[in-house]
Order: sequence, then C-alpha cells, then structure tokens
Amino acid sequence: MSEAVQTMFAAIAKRYDLANRLLSCGRDVAWRRASLRMLEGQPRRILDLACGTYDFAIDALGAGKAVQVHGADFCLPMLQAGEAKRARHAITATNGDALHLPYADGSFDVAMVAYGWRNFDDKLAALRELKRVLKPGGQILILEFFRAESLWPRLFHGTFGRFGIPVIGGLISGDRAAYRYLYTSIKGFLSVSEATALITEAGFAKQRWRSCFGGISHAVVARIPD
Ligand SMILES: C[S@@+](CC[C@H](N)C(=O)[O-])C[C@H]1O[C@@H](n2cnc3c(N)ncnc32)[C@H](O)[C@@H]1O
Repeated sequence: MSEAVQTMFAAIAKRYDLANRLLSCGRDVAWRRASLRMLEGQPRRILDLACGTYDFAIDALGAGKAVQVHGADFCLPMLQAGEAKRARHAITATNGDALHLPYADGSFDVAMVAYGWRNFDDKLAALRELKRVLKPGGQILILEFFRAESLWPRLFHGTFGRFGIPVIGGLISGDRAAYRYLYTSIKGFLSVSEATALITEAGFAKQRWRSCFGGISHAVVARIPD
C-alpha cells in the first residue's frame, strides 16, 4: 500500500496546499493550530512526521512551540512542493519512512503527525517508532480524521467526503482518485476508541483528546510515562 500512497501524494503535491485550503474552507489551518495549543511545556526539538509541505512544522514554530522542527516524509515531491516555505524557517528535513526513522533513540521532545497516521501500513509499529525517537517524558501529538461513529461526522464523511471532495479535489489537482482515497482511508481507519487503545498499547499515557468541528477531525496528545 505504501508505494501506492507515495505515488498518489506525488501526483497531487503541487496543488496539495491549495486543495486543502479550498476543501476545508481554511479550517485545516485552524485545526492544526488548535492541536498545537494542546502541547504542554516548552519543547525544544519537534519531529513533524509525514510533514508534507511543512504547514504543521511552520505553525509549531509560529506558535512558539519549538526552537527547531525536523520534518520527515517519504514522498519527495511533497517536500519539494513545500521547499520554498521550509527555506524561510528553522526547519530541516529528511526524505524517510515512518516505520524506519533515521534518528537515534531519544532525539526529540515532541513527535507530531497531522493527517499522516491513517496512511501508515502498520499503525502500532509507527507509534512504537515515534516512542523510540522521543526523550523520556516526551509527547506525541496526532491530528487525524478517524472513522466516524456518531451521526454528524458519519453524515459529513458519507456525503461531502464521499462525493463532494473527489469532485472538487479532482478539479483542483487533476487527480480524482487521490481524493476518493481520502474517503476510503477514513472509512477503513481506526475509530477514536480504537486509536485510544492502540496509543495505550504503544506505551503512551495521559491521553488528552480534542474534537474539531463536531468530530470531523480529532487531535490527541499523549506522553511517555517519566
Ligand atoms: C495528508 S498529507 C499530510 C501532510 C501534512 N502533515 C499536513 O498536515 O498537511 C499525508 C502525508 O503523509 C506522508 N506519508 C504517508 N505515509 C508515509 C510514511 N509511511 N512515511 C512517511 N510519510 C508518509 C505522505 O507522503 C503525505 O505527505
């Protein structure tokens, strides 16, 4: 699956930011920023996994949440599409895979993932890899579209997500299939309660959840126990 995901993001990379802003009416920006406010303390080094075109990394710096952010993504065209933005900030980057991060144990204070976890082949292994590269007491921050269980998000994803997004996303990016994948990947993903259990199984504690737009998107912060 990961090769297909890589090819898909490569095909939409140049129009990715524009499609995000239009499809979410700019809400994606607000959701990233609200999730960053959930982080505790003054982290210094942040890993932004599945960083794409660096929006989350830039917001983390803008919010004063880090001195330095390191982005990682396995799709080089996504990193290239964001390169002009990256170069204006204290952000370094690696073209690498979530399941084999090229960093020593205990390298970061925070590891965050916005709309990337859904795409990883092995969800639990990815959490364990994030835990490995965090310092003791480090935090994960995950922002995602989880499989909807209550009425409003099910309605939203089942109508706009299923029919509207592929049409609009297809017109903007020229790749309707990529935006159909958004719907199918959410439908096949974990629910919030399943994600809660997996995060605990990976060894994180003190989970705090935030729901955005009535449960369309969720953010969770959790810690490695000291
Ligand atoms: C929906 S985009 C999110 C980008 C960015 N975080 C944001 O908020 O806009 C998902 C990103 O995850 C990356 N990705 C998916 N699977 C990955 C993996 N196994 N390792 C690294 N990056 C991955 C894709 O290349 C893509 O850039």
